[in-house]
Amino acid sequence: MPDFDTLLPRPAAAIRADGECAWPAEVTVRTSADLPAEGYRLEIEPDGVTLHAADAAGEFYGRQTLRQLAGPAEFRAASIHTGQSTVPCGVIADHPRFGWRGCLLDVARNFRTKAEVLRFVDLLAAHKLNVLNLHLTDDQGWRVEIPAYPRLTEVGSWRASSMVGRHDGPERDGRPHGGFYTVDDLREIVAYAAERAVTVVPEIDIPGHARAAIAAYPDLGLAGDNPQVWNSWGISTSLLNPTESTLDFFRAVFDQLLDIFPSPVIALGGDEVPGATGEHGEFVRLLAEHLATRGRRAMGWDEVLDIEGLPPMVIGAWQEAAAGIRAADAGHDVVMCPEESVYLDHRQSDHPDEPIPVGYLHTLEDIYAYDPIPGELTEMLGTQAQVWTEHLDSARRVDYAVFPRLCAFAEVAWSAPEGRDFAEFLPRLRDHHLPRLDALGVEYRPLDGPRPWQTRPGVPGRPR
Ligand code: ACM
Repeated sequence: MPDFDTLLPRPAAAIRADGECAWPAEVTVRTSADLPAEGYRLEIEPDGVTLHAADAAGEFYGRQTLRQLAGPAEFRAASIHTGQSTVPCGVIADHPRFGWRGCLLDVARNFRTKAEVLRFVDLLAAHKLNVLNLHLTDDQGWRVEIPAYPRLTEVGSWRASSMVGRHDGPERDGRPHGGFYTVDDLREIVAYAAERAVTVVPEIDIPGHARAAIAAYPDLGLAGDNPQVWNSWGISTSLLNPTESTLDFFRAVFDQLLDIFPSPVIALGGDEVPGATGEHGEFVRLLAEHLATRGRRAMGWDEVLDIEGLPPMVIGAWQEAAAGIRAADAGHDVVMCPEESVYLDHRQSDHPDEPIPVGYLHTLEDIYAYDPIPGELTEMLGTQAQVWTEHLDSARRVDYAVFPRLCAFAEVAWSAPEGRDFAEFLPRLRDHHLPRLDALGVEYRPLDGPRPWQTRPGVPGRPR
């Protein structure tokens, strides 16, 4: 029977009492206004469980905690028990450190099917993460149906070929790649996520990373640019032409997004715009204003901080911690997601077998040691791990890159930093949490390195 010291993320407070409660147990739920947002208190007694919850999220998290206490088999898709099991008695009082505990999933570079996205939501929720930042568009693909502009998906949702690894040569795999979500697929994802206390924050990237849209409607691009959906990784120089008609086009696109996604925050990118002009900045500002007039807050990457007169936004501080401080000083909400700390597509070790090693070295221990609050900042919305998928071309590759590092990140985002100790975390992960991931069917990276079929011999990376 797993005890309180097996929980992941670690709860705020847990007091073990003598005895056990038969499981499955009667769970009495009581809403309690005294608890912090998303918080819960579990009272487990021999004759049953009382779950005090601040709100629906708190109830969901209390049930996740019970699921961990009931043992790894609870994470299987169906019960394989015949006999009765037990959960340990005591009281667990718990609430999150941050209100935004996010993970970005890039479905533009490599499309993930709807079923794979739903599974990813399940995995976030099992780790008490509450935001899925869904990166829906980029140079390499447009993944959201916009009925008014059918070419966005007819043309923009697939590319002729893809770059294999990170070589600088002309080789491509010669295989078309594509896919998109219909409006109803996305409504389903949103509803499924909401049942699991996860908000889906959609992202349409403008005015760079928009080549798939320009390929579909060349008038959106700069004069003389007539690109295809890109079959390279990197930063494309194809940019939106920030005219009034492009603005109208994207106002309509974002209006469609607002109709699908109830999230109070809608992401518009704004990152990596080579040769950006003042007009490009104004274009971003006007779309952020457009979202504000419709009662939503725009989220942008920290490059947008150079734009004058932005409405209050959420800033994803990805380039460095200082960007988070600058964003807070300018009155924006801050989500810390620095590339040098929490990019889960980056390599997990310097072992020669690490598949397609790119970016910085982020070991499990590095992720666990990350503290999102930069020195002088006291108030922050939260933190987010990022899963860019140039080199993650299947759900199995995503599993390998994301787990178990996301388990460490979940604890960073949820648990108080006091007493955090990797030497305590590692056996808890290895002995108690990995069996839960096994039961869920997650193909995480084994702690001692990839299995032979998880390597990608001969496919070049680009480590930094
Ligand atoms: C980013 O990694 N370009 C946000």
